[in-house]
Amino acid sequence: MRPPHAALLLLFILACLRGAYSGGGRSRFTSIISFGDSYADTGNLVKWADPVFPGPLPLENLPYGQTFFGYPTGRATDGRLVLDFIAEALGLPFVPPYLAKGSNFSAGVNFAVAGAPALNLTYLQGQNFTVNPPINSSLHDQLEWFQKLKPSLCKGQGTDCFGSSLFVMGEFGSNDYRNILMSNKTVEQALVYVPQIVDSISRGVERLIQQGAKYIVVADVFPTGCIPPILTMLASPNKMEYDRHGCLKSGNRLGRSQNTLLRHRIKVLRRKYPHTTIIAAEYYRPILAFLDMPGHFGLNSSTTLLTCCGAGGPPYNYDFNAGCGLPGVKACADPSHALQWDGFHLTESAYRVIADGWLHGPYADPSIMHVRS
Ligand SMILES: *[C@@H]1O[C@H](CO)[C@@H](O)[C@H](O)[C@H]1NC(C)=O
Ligand SMILES: *[C@@H]1O[C@H](CO)[C@@H](O)[C@H](O)[C@H]1NC(C)=O
Ligand SMILES: *[C@@H]1O[C@H](CO)[C@@H](O)[C@H](O)[C@H]1NC(C)=O
Ligand SMILES: *[C@@H]1O[C@H](CO)[C@@H](O)[C@H](O)[C@H]1NC(C)=O
Ligand SMILES: *[C@@H]1O[C@H](CO)[C@@H](O)[C@H](O)[C@H]1NC(C)=O
Ligand SMILES: *[C@@H]1O[C@H](CO)[C@@H](O)[C@H](O)[C@H]1NC(C)=O
Repeated sequence: MRPPHAALLLLFILACLRGAYSGGGRSRFTSIISFGDSYADTGNLVKWADPVFPGPLPLENLPYGQTFFGYPTGRATDGRLVLDFIAEALGLPFVPPYLAKGSNFSAGVNFAVAGAPALNLTYLQGQNFTVNPPINSSLHDQLEWFQKLKPSLCKGQGTDCFGSSLFVMGEFGSNDYRNILMSNKTVEQALVYVPQIVDSISRGVERLIQQGAKYIVVADVFPTGCIPPILTMLASPNKMEYDRHGCLKSGNRLGRSQNTLLRHRIKVLRRKYPHTTIIAAEYYRPILAFLDMPGHFGLNSSTTLLTCCGAGGPPYNYDFNAGCGLPGVKACADPSHALQWDGFHLTESAYRVIADGWLHGPYADPSIMHVRS
């Protein structure tokens, strides 16, 4: 009986080693290529603004970056973004912003720009929406930049240039809704644009596949009705307009509508491109989970809708004229227990939980670590 035992033991040890190998965060992804907005921007907007605007953007001031890095990096949070935690887990460097000329893009490049909408500037302005910032940084523009950079990314790489690259698309949509709502339009009017926004994302994914992408994470959109500036702007005395989380039901119709349509479109794309892995990743559900059970995630239940870095006090601590990064606007005592960072964006501790859900489940289908590990 001894030899079979020894063989079993060996198999067991091998299995453990294998488990440790894949569980230890090693994967065979060799680069990350990202598209998106402020939820993924690692420095493009501030690089773009530098020669254009006289002073620093609020984003370029502390307390942005105070928890991790220790200085502002152009990320719209106190530390790392979901994308940063993914890069760490894959053993890759933080994804350098495309506009940081001279960066080494061999392990990834980030085209995401804070404020970027899914629909282009010319189109949104043509619909009479005030677009802020008024720059050409939409999903389509980012794809053009990618196209331009592709020859240098693929130099000497052979035909399967992106075979071990993880593409991350999104999220997109939040800035379209923000621009529409801030132009004094109603949620009903914003809902009209949902199919076009999903089309833009879906066409973007298809274009990446045509360029050779094999693994694409497609993120869904935030629950717009839970965002402190939206809650402040659309505040209503009618309690019936709020859900049990304190979010505006009408605002969340935008996110739900986009996400349902996007999920459907992902199914269509998977059928059309069976050799590409499309990972459906979620922001919407984890944010509702944070609001449902803040304590479970180490968050303070009395501050889940309160902006950490803001002004004005409860219920949202958000003031359009006193945003984070402006003189005199301070961060809360303990951002690690807060959900909302500056109003539109979440804290690093929230992003860490979301990233974990994308890497290992349950907030991605399939989870990132389950492919190519
Ligand atoms: C770029 O980074 C890669 C590793 O990520 C490294 O192998 C390569 O030598 C770097 N290239 C330059 C020019 O620094
Ligand atoms: C902007 O979007 C509109 C509507 O989707 C499209 O017709 C137009 O070609 C786009 N323009 C640019 C410059 O991409
Ligand atoms: C935008 O406003 C202009 C001027 O008021 C108007 O002529 C045009 O019809 C509007 N466009 C849309 C799409 O509402
Ligand atoms: C954005 O792109 C459009 C189409 O190429 C161009 O007409 C417009 O001037 C650009 N706007 C800005 C602010 O760069
Ligand atoms: C929206 O409405 C407010 C109050 O009526 C007004 O002060 C603001 O200028 C309007 N904004 C736009 C973009 O129309
Ligand atoms: C939660 O936040 C409230 C309001 O800021 C504060 O008074 C309380 O001490 C916090 N609780 C914990 C456990 O940090």
